[in-house]
Amino acid sequence: MQEFIDTAVLAIKQAAKIHKKYFNTDIKAEMKKKTFDLVTVADVEAEKAITSLIKKKFPKHNILAEENKYKKTDSQYTWIIDPLDGTNNFSNKIPMFSVSIALAKDKEVLLGFVYDVMRDELFSARKGKGAFLNGKKIKVNGVDGFRQAILVTGFYYDRGQAMVENIEKVKQFLQKKIIGIRRFGSAALDLCYVACGRAAGFWEFELNVWDFAAGKLIVEEAGGKVSGRLGEPVLLKKSFIIASNSKIHEQMLDVISHA
Ligand code: IPD
Ligand code: CA
Ligand code: CA
Repeated sequence: MQEFIDTAVLAIKQAAKIHKKYFNTDIKAEMKKKTFDLVTVADVEAEKAITSLIKKKFPKHNILAEENKYKKTDSQYTWIIDPLDGTNNFSNKIPMFSVSIALAKDKEVLLGFVYDVMRDELFSARKGKGAFLNGKKIKVNGVDGFRQAILVTGFYYDRGQAMVENIEKVKQFLQKKIIGIRRFGSAALDLCYVACGRAAGFWEFELNVWDFAAGKLIVEEAGGKVSGRLGEPVLLKKSFIIASNSKIHEQMLDVISHA
């Protein structure tokens, strides 16, 4: 296991170096197939650095990374990678973005790492062993009602029904007199903010597995809860995500699951 951890941390540091090289420079951001879904040279270079390192160390493992086509091998292990989570922030010179790497064995995530490059904050978790921020144990906060809650959300690139519904949910949560809603722009970090108690809950309508695989484990290992829209378990595929400190999970589900 230590070899996996060391590889993930090294890969993250290499990707972070690339991000720092390009951040605040005038690099071009290109649109992917969906409007507003951007990709930059930093996404591509960082992914290459991460995947080359993993391939060198563990040539048989599967790699599921955002900017590449997935080819299945026979290995039970799969690395799930978002080389740059928060590309919109990055390409607009907003210093809030992360690198996310998870390692799953079959369908279970064993390790999760999310690195906030500009703040030098490394969130990590190992299944059954807790969650950490720069090596110090973290846990979710004790907020047990909306009145003291900061919630975080995100908007997928879709500008259709999901956007309309999410705006309605933002309104409904605000009407419940929560303290506030934040939109930081990196789902992986949003989850980590729940894990370390900076936020009581997070939801987003549509996340890819590389956005949440690491962060989900980090929330769970910090004592929080992650589920789908109706409270169902979240599998390793594109999903609706609700994450919370567990105390307000039912309340959040109540708002999310009602029209
Ligand atoms: C995006 C970010 C954002 C979330 C989007 C994601 P990307 O990832 O996590 O916070 O709202 O749904 O797609 O495209 O920057 O890797
Ligand atoms: Ca992402
Ligand atoms: Ca990305």
